[in-house]
Amino acid sequence: MSNDKKQLWGGRFTAAPDETFAEFNDSFRFDRRLFAADVTASIAHANGLRRADVISGDEADSIVAGLRSIADEAENETGYLESEKAEDVHSFIEAKLIEKIGDTGRKLHTGRSRNDQVATAFRLWCRDEVDVVLELIRRAERSLIDLAKRHKEAVIPAYTHLQRAQPVLFAHWCLAYFEMLERDIERFTQARKRVNVMPLGSGAVAGTGFPIDRELVAGELGFDAVTANSLDGVSDRDFAVDICSAASLLMVHLSRLAEDMILYASSEFGFIVLSDAVSSGSSLMPQKKNPDALELLRGKAGRVFGNDLSMLTMLKGLPLAYNKDMQEDKEAVFDTIDTIGISLRAAAVILDNTSLNVSRTQRAAATGYLNATDLADYLVAKGMPFRSAHEAVGRAVLFAIDKGCELNELSIDELKQFSELVETDVFERLSLNASIGARSAIGGTSPERVNAALDAADNKLKK
Ligand code: ARG
Repeated sequence: MSNDKKQLWGGRFTAAPDETFAEFNDSFRFDRRLFAADVTASIAHANGLRRADVISGDEADSIVAGLRSIADEAENETGYLESEKAEDVHSFIEAKLIEKIGDTGRKLHTGRSRNDQVATAFRLWCRDEVDVVLELIRRAERSLIDLAKRHKEAVIPAYTHLQRAQPVLFAHWCLAYFEMLERDIERFTQARKRVNVMPLGSGAVAGTGFPIDRELVAGELGFDAVTANSLDGVSDRDFAVDICSAASLLMVHLSRLAEDMILYASSEFGFIVLSDAVSSGSSLMPQKKNPDALELLRGKAGRVFGNDLSMLTMLKGLPLAYNKDMQEDKEAVFDTIDTIGISLRAAAVILDNTSLNVSRTQRAAATGYLNATDLADYLVAKGMPFRSAHEAVGRAVLFAIDKGCELNELSIDELKQFSELVETDVFERLSLNASIGARSAIGGTSPERVNAALDAADNKLKK
């Protein structure tokens, strides 16, 4: 199978590669995803060679036209990229070019190595994919904000230790995840900056030996800068790790969203209802409606963390500069990009198919002493030190638990047992609305704050 394959490095060799070695070594089955990026970078390299008078204008024209027609063929002919004969995408493209335009094609690789070539194509590919990821995060954010707006007045219990803690607006919960995704956008935007630097011109390790104006080539490819050191240029994969680690945190956030929603969709909580469109049934139990989509969203995090760790482990202790170990970078990043892409799309669709059981969340928020802190704050407002108020309200809660009622269901006389400061205005202060309205400092759940945060989110999403 591999014996009729023309190797790029044939001259020094008298024997063909062993088939098992070739299978082990070849990367075309996965790095063909870099095809378009490698063609684009090769065109820019040919133009760089032309400007440096290393190849003639006619030769450059022929190379560029050849590369363009190969790209067309790849786009229009099914199975074009299925070849089993190529070692990697770079040798595939070069072989196709020589097949198409003849000996002139043999000049394309002048002044470059696959080491700077692969790093350049990979960065181009990553840059486009990061842009897609940024779009998809925005789309998931849009769905979160739309969900918040569909239930603008709704109240849910907020939890600490998964015990009911204090009431918050449901929109406030949605906005918490919006904040996480905003930080993810920031991280991917920063990663993109480090991705968008061009290693082409680093050669194999020492720099290109031809007077190519690297900055002009970089400009043609939309890179912001060129790498400053050839040893580092060919062996730096920090940009790929940046993507993998930004992806890990993104998946942490999506998995937490998923977990909250899985809990909220259970009969025990009954806070949210997922539409049939994003739920699955059981093959055995006819009554079941399972949140499989959310469980996958939670579960997909593992492989993304795994890819992140594979990248770090692969790079740790590698001597300068390029080593074949680094060919392992591609599948990790490809899988990460694929996984976060489908996860973000799924998250958006799930959120679009979620509705809130408002009477149920309202009841949950109103029971279980979530207003105990409000009673303490009330006493503080009347002059009691907070620590004493905490103590007094603790005793009131114990009393209410014993009686089997809520704090606001105690009589004024019962409440007065715990502090003489209590007056009839306490009942208003213990209402859900008052509790939520009181949290009006920046970052709190009061309606004014939440509405302002929703408006700010809308403005960000309009950009
Ligand atoms: N396919 C290789 C990679 O993905 C690029 C080629 C460099 N190979 C080499 N033997 N110098 O890293």
